Parts: sequence; structure tokens; C-alpha cells
Amino acid sequence: MRAALLLLLLLPALTSAADVDEVTGLIRNPGWEQVRAHCGGCHSHALVTSQRADRNTWLDTLRWMQATQNLWQFEPSVETQILDYLAENYPPMANRRRAPIPPSLMPGSDKEMANKQ
Ligand code: HEC
Repeated sequence: MRAALLLLLLLPALTSAADVDEVTGLIRNPGWEQVRAHCGGCHSHALVTSQRADRNTWLDTLRWMQATQNLWQFEPSVETQILDYLAENYPPMANRRRAPIPPSLMPGSDKEMANKQ
């Protein structure tokens, strides 16, 4: 019974997790196949998925690779799909830290409470 309840509580978290391609590690959202096709030839897709940036910075990265690393030119529609995908799925993260631990869960919080009473 308790296990069933736990599963029920966890289910939303499990189902809302992003669908990630097992081979490339890319999040399977619109445009991912373009990125799979164009962004894994010279380096691992992991270099892509480990990066976080806004659209302009992604564009800069592409332009830099085109100017210096022999990255080919894209059809405008393909480039748009790639940039939309990257900006949408790998956006900048202002703060990657977890939320602070509630004081009630900190070591010694029982004593703290007892002292105050
Ligand atoms: C023609 C080869 C080539 C292709 C194709 C290619 N890259 Fe790169 N990319 C490179 C090279 C070379 C580097 C530098 C690797 C290093 O630093 O060791 C690089 C580096 C990167 C970096 C790290 C940049 C940094 O600031 O450190 C990212 C992110 C990246 N590529 C994303 C992409 C994406 C997204 C695509 C698809 C649109 C792509 N790459 C396709 C050659 C390529």
C-alpha cells in the first residue's frame, strides 16, 4: 500500500522528465534530428548538451565553428531549426544551485528548537 502511494507521488516527476535520446543524449524535442545530423560529426553530442546559452550565443558558437573549424553553412530553414532547438532546450541557467535546505532539516535544529522553548 505504501509502495503504491509512493509510486503515485513519484509518477508525475517520472513522466514529465525530458525524453532523451539514448545514443546522443539529445533531448527529443522538435529540431533534435537536425542537431543529431549536423552536430555530432566532429565532436561528441555531449559537447553540445553540456553547453548552455541563449540564442545569440549559440549563433556565435556556430559562426565561430564555421569561421575556424570547417563547420559547413546551413540552409536558413535548417539553421533556424537548430538555433530554435538549442535555445529552447539548452538555455542559459542563471542559477544551477539547488534550493537551500529548510532550517528544520539542518543538523541540530531539534536542539535549536528546544533551546528557544
Ligand atoms: C566540422 C566540424 C564541426 C561540426 C560539424 C560541429 N562542430 Fe562544434 N566544434 C568543432 C570544434 C573543432 C570545436 C572545438 C573543440 C574543442 O575545443 O576541443 C567545437 C566546439 C563546440 C562547442 C564548444 C564551444 C566552446 O565554447 O567551448 C560547442 C558548444 C559546439 N561545438 C556545438 C556544436 C553544434 C551545436 C554543432 C551543430 C550545429 C556543432 N558543434 C557542429 C567542430 C565542429
